[in-house]
Amino acid sequence: MWRSLRPIGRSDASGGYRRYAWTGADADCRLWFRMQAEARRLDVETDRNGNQWAWLGDPAAGDAVVTGSHLDSVPDGGAFDGPLGVVSAFAALDELRARGVSFRRPLAIVNFGDEEGARFGLACVGSRLAAGQLTKEKAFELRDADGISLPEAMEAAGHDPESIGADPERLARVGAFVELHVEQGRALDLSGDPVGIASAIWPHGRWRLDFHGEANHAGTTRLVDRRDPMLPYAETVLAARRAAELEGAVATFGKIAVEPNGVNAIPSLVRGWLDLRAADEATLSATLGGIHTAALEHAERHGVDLALTRESYTPVIDFQDALRDELARILAGSLGKVPVLGTGAGHDAGILSASVPTAMLFVRNPTGVSHSPAESAAEDDCVAGVRALADVLEDLACR
Ligand code: GLV
Ligand code: MN
Ligand code: MN
Repeated sequence: MWRSLRPIGRSDASGGYRRYAWTGADADCRLWFRMQAEARRLDVETDRNGNQWAWLGDPAAGDAVVTGSHLDSVPDGGAFDGPLGVVSAFAALDELRARGVSFRRPLAIVNFGDEEGARFGLACVGSRLAAGQLTKEKAFELRDADGISLPEAMEAAGHDPESIGADPERLARVGAFVELHVEQGRALDLSGDPVGIASAIWPHGRWRLDFHGEANHAGTTRLVDRRDPMLPYAETVLAARRAAELEGAVATFGKIAVEPNGVNAIPSLVRGWLDLRAADEATLSATLGGIHTAALEHAERHGVDLALTRESYTPVIDFQDALRDELARILAGSLGKVPVLGTGAGHDAGILSASVPTAMLFVRNPTGVSHSPAESAAEDDCVAGVRALADVLEDLACR
């Protein structure tokens, strides 16, 4: 599976993946999913929001056990964030068939669309739409960097955008969702465990800061006459770091757009995107308040106007105790006491947890690096992850 997935959307220059929603690379990932499913005699359906489901058994029977993750990536993403959960799901099914089990509940493997939000700026679009946490109207407002709207991109990829929206009937078929994911930190490496269970996802969000100044000549405009938006932007980046340190949060400016983006012109606009996360909502809100206040002060000092827009927000997710404890009990036989970890990374499982019982398994990442071509996982640990997932699916779907 890894061999056939490896070239899809891979940049030779960076060695990273550029698998963005509704692009050619995304279509190739979807075709890969379909071929894996069909090779296993699973019934593939694409739901109204573009998520792919591969079914073993009758979906209409309800109380299905569902596993899977996503195949899209961040810009120059690693090979494992997302795909490890999908590959492990197919491998776990192979393992269960090799064990000769019989299924008491329907089983599905899912590939959620547009988890990373790399193209349209909002993460988990496929699961948010299905769960009714993103309306069709809001989704229709999303645009990529070239001004192409989400419905235009869907239509160009052959998906009817008019059909998107909450899908309670489909989610009502799901009795439990278990997402396996590469760990995006070093907790398992430090504890010496190949596999962990998720406790919670930190609250997190994305904010856009537009600093509006005045375009002018880089050579002839006296420093005192400038309204240069790059200056308060730069000071805000530093202030965000200080606020995050002070409050115990994490703040990142990882994307910036400059207009007119000329070497010899003072910018008219600097637009920066803030990704902010913290263990609890009070800390996140205090950090945001600190950053906003600093940004306003710096903007005013430089004669620049600032607009702050919240583009997305996901509250804290506490995974259901019952299913989490169930996973710990199932895995205790083969792995002993499995660590239970919180994470600062967002997942479709977090979105779904408001609608269905949901749990997550993490597989050790020896460096902790993620959202980078350097992301890695050892083969033995991936195999341990597949076995753990197979044990969980067997317990939930076959007993
Ligand atoms: C998704 O991986 C996110 O946490 O941004
Ligand atoms: Mn990710
Ligand atoms: Mn992911």
